[in-house]
Amino acid sequence: MQKINIILVGFGRVGQAFYELLKEKYDYCRERYGLFLELKGIIRKSGAVLLSGTRKMVSEAGAAGEEKAELSSWVQTFSLVDLLDEFKSGVLVDCTPSDLVTGEPGYSLIKTALSRGWHAVTASKGALVVHPSELEAEARRNQVALKASGATAAALPTLDLGLHSLAGAEIMAIEGILNGTTNYILTRMADGLSFSRALMEASEKGIAEPNPVQDIEGWDTAAKMVIIANKVLGTAIKLSEARVHGINGLTEEIMTRAARIGKTIKLIGRCSRETPGEPWKVEVGLALLNPDHPLAAVDGSNKGIIFYTDCMGYIVLSGGKSDPRGAAAALIKDIISIYWRDF
Ligand SMILES: NC(=O)c1ccc[n+]([C@@H]2O[C@H](COP(=O)([O-])OP(=O)(O)OC[C@H]3O[C@@H](n4cnc5c(N)ncnc54)[C@H](OP(=O)(O)O)[C@@H]3O)[C@@H](O)[C@H]2O)c1
Repeated sequence: MQKINIILVGFGRVGQAFYELLKEKYDYCRERYGLFLELKGIIRKSGAVLLSGTRKMVSEAGAAGEEKAELSSWVQTFSLVDLLDEFKSGVLVDCTPSDLVTGEPGYSLIKTALSRGWHAVTASKGALVVHPSELEAEARRNQVALKASGATAAALPTLDLGLHSLAGAEIMAIEGILNGTTNYILTRMADGLSFSRALMEASEKGIAEPNPVQDIEGWDTAAKMVIIANKVLGTAIKLSEARVHGINGLTEEIMTRAARIGKTIKLIGRCSRETPGEPWKVEVGLALLNPDHPLAAVDGSNKGIIFYTDCMGYIVLSGGKSDPRGAAAALIKDIISIYWRDF
């Protein structure tokens, strides 16, 4: 049995889903993996709160009132460094916004945690897109883990498959539907809805973020593909090198024409190279898929990825619909993977 200290940064949709799922999974993680996942503090932009640990929150019947009291006492008087130094070791969980230009606030938060010997798991893409090698080096220097399932299609285990299940196989190309919002919009447009109506529906259902520009313009897909490629292929591709086209400009007429010739339109992220030895390229754009293409049937807010390999054929993974609970589950999976010996 092992007690794990957890500090959560960011308490928006994903951070709150993580908080709830951690309580829900506390007993399961203890019984199945021998891990006590203890949330010790939460930091958000508007304040911080110190907690007595997950066990206390899920145990006694009276804990609900106490938990409410704990969660209502946000203060500005302590920082991430205070918490890291107080609890000595554990995992930082980063659920802050993804800034694909500066990498902040994730970069500073993760670097601070790694440099103090804490592991980090992140749902945020910014830091890993802007400063991947610095953070990997910091993690290696301090002999801690930096995990990013939550930032790479979350409930769809893209990195686990690419890094572990395909070990030994040479990956020739990677292709995927990595953004649930745009896939939902395309699915509903194929059902006959206009772009604006499909987007409105995605927002009403909580699938689209309040500002879905990065999704619609393809940058979210590109960022995920860059992180996956750099981790799985060991490349150093920059987001600025990617060729990116989104789903903006797509009309009902184009969708109808595609349907008439029996094709499906999908937003595909791709990482490939002309020949071995050539540089890898990341591209994002709309593709006309035949009905028998493995990604053609990935619908709604689901996602999918294909790894083309030299000796295992092509491996397809699909599902993992986009939502904060799926992202929270990916964060918990990453924490388990750090500590559970049999992973
Ligand atoms: N939504 C999804 O389904 C999903 C799925 C996978 C990955 N992601 C990624 O997960 C991350 C979080 O997404 P979200 O939807 O939960 O975002 P959100 O609802 O906007 O929440 C962001 C949180 O980060 C906090 N924050 C902002 N700047 C901070 C700083 N400098 N220091 C500490 N905390 C700070 C905010 O604090 P305040 O509360 O004080 O404003 C807020 O609690 C993003 O990077 C997103 O791309 C989201």
